[in-house]
Amino acid sequence: MDFKEKLKSVFSNNEKGDIKKCLFPAAGYGTRFLPATKAMPKEMLPIVNKPLIQYGVEEALEAGITNMAIVTGRGKRAIEDHFDISYELESQIRGTDKESLLNDIRDVIDRCVFTYTRQIVMKGLGHAVLTGKPLIGNEPFAVILADDLCVGDGSGVLKQMVDVFMKYKKCVVAVQEVKREDVSKYGVIKGEEIENDIFKVDYMVEKPSVDEAPSNLAVIGRYILIPEIFDILETLKPGKNGEIQLTDALLELAKQGKVLGYRFKGQRFDCGSVHGFVEATNFFFDKMKS
Ligand code: G1P
Repeated sequence: MDFKEKLKSVFSNNEKGDIKKCLFPAAGYGTRFLPATKAMPKEMLPIVNKPLIQYGVEEALEAGITNMAIVTGRGKRAIEDHFDISYELESQIRGTDKESLLNDIRDVIDRCVFTYTRQIVMKGLGHAVLTGKPLIGNEPFAVILADDLCVGDGSGVLKQMVDVFMKYKKCVVAVQEVKREDVSKYGVIKGEEIENDIFKVDYMVEKPSVDEAPSNLAVIGRYILIPEIFDILETLKPGKNGEIQLTDALLELAKQGKVLGYRFKGQRFDCGSVHGFVEATNFFFDKMKS
């Protein structure tokens, strides 16, 4: 895509309401991965030879999205450098057998527009999404939490969700059944299954105790949101752990019948935990060998 085309894709008025932008909240500290994440963004941790955030960007691209809106913070410059040309490196390896190792990332850079803003204070996922408002504007958009690495069966998980959105034009949150004892790590939904794997959400709660959890359908880090979410986030009071919770804002929309849960086809690795990170590494290493 040439630069003019790229600019058009950011500023078009998107009358059809397609999903053209994907927000990546990427300001968090990654404390579960210290000391690795002391000076390096957790989104740059590699699964085999590719950083987590690149997997997310490629998933968004596969869903037909080319505008990547990244909410960064202090100490996250490596993310911007990754999605940029490195002249010195590229001239150094030009013509050698190493050159092809940069093919994928070059293709990503060519096809996408990246926009960035910084979250100055860490007040939770809802606050991070609201921080991204200037990059999104008034249109529906996707959200990917890069440390949830998803591998879809057939098409990618975000593509599956965009298809659900195009049919219903409501918010879509990815859900997965988890062990009852794990519900307190997630947002959890309650809803009626209106179609195979699609739930009309009528209640959701952030990190409930086992007793409070309305089901074992946990929210995974993939969302399609409508711009009304910003109005709600602007006035939302802090919730669980004193943070502005996206789950609480979504509950307001759920009460108006505007949220669907989608049990995606595929698997998810929690790469914010050492266990999930190692599992993902083994999975992608095996895939690479085969
Ligand atoms: C966030 C959300 C939570 C969701 C989870 C998925 O929590 O707040 O609702 O279930 O991501 O990974 P976090 O893991 O950032 O604490």
